[in-house]
Amino acid sequence: MACTDSSTTATPAPSLPRLERHGSASRLLVDGRPFLVRGGEIGNSSGEPGYLAEHWDTFEALQMNTVVAPVYWDQVEPVEGSFAWSMVDGLIDQARARGMHLVLLWFGSWKNSMSCYAPAWVKTDPERFPRSRDAHGRALEILTPFSEENRDADARAFAALLRHLAEVDVDHTVILVQVENEIGMIPEARDRCAAAERAYGEPVPPELIAHLQENGGTLTPELRIRWQDAGGRVAGSWPEVFGPGVWTDELFMAWHFARYVQHVAAAGKAELDLPMYTNAALPRPATLPGQYPAAGPLPHLIDIWQVAAPSLSFISPDIYFPDFVQWADRYTRPDNPLFVPEALRSIEAAENAFYAYGSCSAIGFSPFGIETIEEAPATMLAGAYDVVAQLSPLISEHTGHPTMAGLVKPVEDQRFPHRVTLGDLALNVTYERMAAPALADGVINESGDRPRDETRLPAGGIVIRTGADELVFGGIGLVVTFGPSPASEDTIGILSCEEGHFVDGVWQHIRWLNGDQTHQGRHLRLEPGRFTIQRIRLYRYR
Ligand code: DGJ
Repeated sequence: MACTDSSTTATPAPSLPRLERHGSASRLLVDGRPFLVRGGEIGNSSGEPGYLAEHWDTFEALQMNTVVAPVYWDQVEPVEGSFAWSMVDGLIDQARARGMHLVLLWFGSWKNSMSCYAPAWVKTDPERFPRSRDAHGRALEILTPFSEENRDADARAFAALLRHLAEVDVDHTVILVQVENEIGMIPEARDRCAAAERAYGEPVPPELIAHLQENGGTLTPELRIRWQDAGGRVAGSWPEVFGPGVWTDELFMAWHFARYVQHVAAAGKAELDLPMYTNAALPRPATLPGQYPAAGPLPHLIDIWQVAAPSLSFISPDIYFPDFVQWADRYTRPDNPLFVPEALRSIEAAENAFYAYGSCSAIGFSPFGIETIEEAPATMLAGAYDVVAQLSPLISEHTGHPTMAGLVKPVEDQRFPHRVTLGDLALNVTYERMAAPALADGVINESGDRPRDETRLPAGGIVIRTGADELVFGGIGLVVTFGPSPASEDTIGILSCEEGHFVDGVWQHIRWLNGDQTHQGRHLRLEPGRFTIQRIRLYRYR
């Protein structure tokens, strides 16, 4: 009879973080289970463990499960070929001690366009490590992507980082890696160094041409129109295929930046196959390439980045602009899951997080400069992240399916209820962004003017349709009425509504809300100023 020797029953090694397809979206799996990144990105100079140590209580209070933190090429490879890992190890140790994960940002050849994190031995040897040049031939503080020496030096360092992670991070505290940071040509869209000038006259790579031919219907409109307007040619130089001008300069640069990133990412993945991505600084409205950092992983360049850099799992936006919804939507595609590594750490962060997870099935969300967040936005972000943490199993289950939505005001001046449909069910949502007024008995949801000095609060949430007539809402400042699809003659009533919370995915009842709190069965209300979760059951009558 066989006996079990416990000393030989090894615990299986945690599986590598990876993406898996789910419905029309993707989920991040950490140790084999769906994982939503409730992140915060630390400031550029806050990544040294000695400095960071005091901030972990803040991260915990914010209900974060992941810290997004930089790794500096100049610090990890101060002498060529000789690596110093104490900062990386310190980050991993601190995160692990708090049961948190890390997204590491490789500040390599480029950080916000510039090459400020290149080691001194790179910066001071421009013969070996050449710079980009402007139209006057002046050297820029930007390593040119048209140099194999630059690319290979970066790739060797990045590979060493991933090799080191493979050795020390056996439980996969690090779950994602960002390759470079906000790449972009500025103040001119095109590099004019000699190698770049030569490449500009070379044929457009055949794999890009093949992509144009095979994906005509799904190309980003900007790329399709540019190609067709220039004659739809299937061979020729960049200006021949796409027409001369600054927009073609950007396409050309995007291809070469992306090829460089591909080389760096592939070198890293050969050591440890973590999911990788690259982030973009978004353009201000009505600006031209070069006026904004051109050629980064921008939504109108996604075809170029996908063809040239297949080792990246997705490209990401850093969304600081107020039109969060529009930018998030542009990066949300079946072939590009949304991950927002940087967002404004404002009151609106709570709303934006709900939109990202609920409407975009985002892998994660992460306000920037998180260690310096102020009290009011911190309280609101913590409330939103707590709701997301409780709802995580449901969110993951409904990822990529039309049974979930983020609820945020579609436009600032939304005059009518926001209509959201979940299959054959219509929700009419109004948003209460002000602190709760003192209400007279029986007046639940007044819509009159509010005193001007009232505190601005977020209003938003997530709704998940968990059954034909059952929904779960989490959020703040929402009033929702229900209707059937226009084709139906039914009226929809509220059978019951309860406030509760989830513990490890299991519903825990707190109280029934069938009187004043639902305006005697007329609506569901998540009151302003307090994050709550409610479960509602509906019924239909004629
Ligand atoms: C975007 C960059 O990616 C960050 O590293 C940081 O520089 C922020 N901008 C500052 O707002």
